[in-house]
Amino acid sequence: MTNAILEINGLHQYFEKGTPNENHALKGIDLQLREGEFVAIIGGNGAGKSTLLNSVAGSLPVSYGQVKIAGKDVTYQSVEKRAKLISRVFQDPRQGSAPLLTVEENLSLALKRGSWRNFWSSGVKKNERNVFKQKLASLGLGLENRLSAEIGLLSGGQRQAITLLMATMRQPELLLLDEHTAALDPQTSATVMQITDKIVREEHLTAMMITHNMQDALKYGNRLIMMDHGQIAIDLNAEQKQGLTVPDLLAMFKEKSGTALTDDAVLLSD
Ligand SMILES: Nc1ncnc2c1ncn2[C@@H]1O[C@H](COP(=O)(O)OP(=O)(O)OP(=O)(O)O)[C@@H](O)[C@H]1O
Ligand SMILES: [Mg+2]
Repeated sequence: MTNAILEINGLHQYFEKGTPNENHALKGIDLQLREGEFVAIIGGNGAGKSTLLNSVAGSLPVSYGQVKIAGKDVTYQSVEKRAKLISRVFQDPRQGSAPLLTVEENLSLALKRGSWRNFWSSGVKKNERNVFKQKLASLGLGLENRLSAEIGLLSGGQRQAITLLMATMRQPELLLLDEHTAALDPQTSATVMQITDKIVREEHLTAMMITHNMQDALKYGNRLIMMDHGQIAIDLNAEQKQGLTVPDLLAMFKEKSGTALTDDAVLLSD
């Protein structure tokens, strides 16, 4: 496929290869994401979801196979080099922004792709401030009035919403969301999920989101992938996932993998 934003060919990941503890964590993943696809990835503990995202982001060297982003082979590129193409939001709301800088300073730094040199030399310009105000207002959290608040003083949900803005400000080719709502309370998590969906659709982003929340995986995005023991067990497009319920998904998983899905977060959630 030529217009794929992400193309993964025959990806294998081994941990501690050649030792008695060898773990074949990804077993030949082939996956293509087209522009504008928003895929939710679910699967039990240890299925390989984070390993897959880490392989795409470059934080884990690839054992075998190929990763291409926007047509470029990035398999052996460093995280820093890939960062021009990829933005990533992590589970911990403290991870994506600088706590002692203000909201507007963090946004300004993101606009300069994290270049402190450019940031210190120009500061926050007035026209930038107006753009930030608009973007913050669109989140619906009243943050447009908190431009000069230190970001470390905001709540986890407010901070995660701003991290999303920062991650998408330069319209990355690919947005990686690694259980980015899992550390938030259910209400806040729902709000951040809605904001995520809005940003991904409005900016026409291509995104991969790991979640333990099956409701979210069904409700959001236009594709759903279920991983099992290092492989893609189920891959549903928007049409196929339409009208499915969580019990339907669990039943599909059981039929495909032969075992019930084991997932702490799912077991704990109701
Ligand atoms: N750095 C590592 N060193 C050794 N083994 C690892 C490492 N990272 C992951 N693994 C192993 O690889 C397998 C896949 O792990 P991974 O973290 O990708 O699972 P996951 O689907 O993200 O699970 P969870 O839902 O629990 O986060 C597991 O067996 C795990 O123990
Ligand atoms: Mg994980």
